[in-house]
Amino acid sequence: MEEILREYVEGRTVLELGAGNLRDARALLELGARSVHCLDKSPVPDSDRDALGRDPRLSWQRGYFEEHLYLAPRYDVLFISYPIMRPLGLAYMVAPREDQVVVYRGQNLEGTVCGSRAFWQVLSTREVLKASRVGLESLIVYGSRRDVDRDILLEERGGLDRSKIYSLSKASGLLATRS
Ligand SMILES: C[S@@+](CC[C@H](N)C(=O)[O-])C[C@H]1O[C@@H](n2cnc3c(N)ncnc32)[C@H](O)[C@@H]1O
Repeated sequence: MEEILREYVEGRTVLELGAGNLRDARALLELGARSVHCLDKSPVPDSDRDALGRDPRLSWQRGYFEEHLYLAPRYDVLFISYPIMRPLGLAYMVAPREDQVVVYRGQNLEGTVCGSRAFWQVLSTREVLKASRVGLESLIVYGSRRDVDRDILLEERGGLDRSKIYSLSKASGLLATRS
């Protein structure tokens, strides 16, 4: 997990939405998260299940985002990596309480899609605390303020507008394009 996330997760409680094989949850704990709770509609693959029970700071529950909206405000940090396009529940979950941080990792460039349009409509109104890119992968840390005048990040533009393919090579600057 990227070291630049340490300052946002150290000592904090994290809810990971769509945790998959728990690789990221374990990495967040290594970065010093106080606890990581995972929510996913699919079971943890057999090969990775032994991670559960080894560390009391790691917990997991099976369920749909849409049925567990109440969970989101309980955590200091929401972590979302490579969300699929469809679930609308995520858009509600990323409109959270004061002081809550949302960490997003994924790709909306070169024809890859992450997150629903509604998800990006919500996130793109929030302040950006940090944005970095490794290759085509974007890592964005959102704060809770919404009254900020800022550029729309290229990653967000790709999520908001599926009518064309956004490409890093055609963008001016790393992350931002003015609307
Ligand atoms: C593309 S995978 C990403 C997994 C992991 N975060 C990663 O980066 O490797 C999306 C994950 O979201 C989960 N998921 C998709 N729709 C969901 C929903 N409506 N409610 C809960 N989990 C969902 C899937 O089961 C899957 O584990």
